[in-house]
Amino acid sequence: MKSDKHTLAAKRVTTRAIQSMKEQKQKIACLTAYDYITAKLLDQAGVDIVLVGDSLGMVFQGHETTLPVTLDEIIYHTRTVVRGINRALVIADMPFMTYQANAEEGFRNAGRIMKETGAGGVKVEGGEHVADMIRRTTRAGIPVMGHLGLMPQSIHQFGGYQPRGVESDEAKRIINDAKILEEAGVFSIVLEKVPASLAKRITRSVRVPTIGIGAGVQCDGQILVVSDMLGLYEEFHPRFVRKYARLAEEVRNAVHAYVQDVQHKKFPSDEESY
Ligand code: KIV
Repeated sequence: MKSDKHTLAAKRVTTRAIQSMKEQKQKIACLTAYDYITAKLLDQAGVDIVLVGDSLGMVFQGHETTLPVTLDEIIYHTRTVVRGINRALVIADMPFMTYQANAEEGFRNAGRIMKETGAGGVKVEGGEHVADMIRRTTRAGIPVMGHLGLMPQSIHQFGGYQPRGVESDEAKRIINDAKILEEAGVFSIVLEKVPASLAKRITRSVRVPTIGIGAGVQCDGQILVVSDMLGLYEEFHPRFVRKYARLAEEVRNAVHAYVQDVQHKKFPSDEESY
């Protein structure tokens, strides 16, 4: 009989498994996580891909954008997430300016993430201009997830969080970029905040799975920021976020009850004391 380690390894979601989910028309469920306990809960609940997104800059660190997140911070959070996972594929986001300057630097930083975290791959934002970096990285055996449409690392250039690819010129550019990413070797492509009709067209024109966020139901999978869908992060309400829980309210209520109990000497009870 094989050891637990081997049994668990055999059950892990791989990039190959993600590809065959598209081929078998099985939808891919993805969420972000930034810490051990959340990662463990997502894994137990059957999430296929856990992304350590640089969205942690906003929902975990409280910055206004994702830009301040550093490589060391992503490495730290990815290590904690990996410890909570038995089955899901863990992907680490490459932070702003860790891969854009040149392909060599991006490739080395991707290697550092893989060596130091135990992640199963990295994610980068952009099309044609990051294709060389993706080619080098995938040739070295590092799986790369692409990201097109609304790319939060380009928020200052976009000037806001409006949907992308609404005008036909930009839509054509995004379709072209998706094909370039596929040729460069990505194993999947996140499509953020683009019209559902455009996401459907891209999904049909590339062999690799598309993972939508605000991109309609025709994508091969879906991703949401975990703090948004659990109702923990209350500062941002895009229409594509479905709240599956209202944890911020629950936490406030629970903590308020605790404070009351402490103040009125109702906690701890005799049974909770030694
Ligand atoms: O940083 C992130 O969490 C992401 C997802 C929203 C796709 O890029």
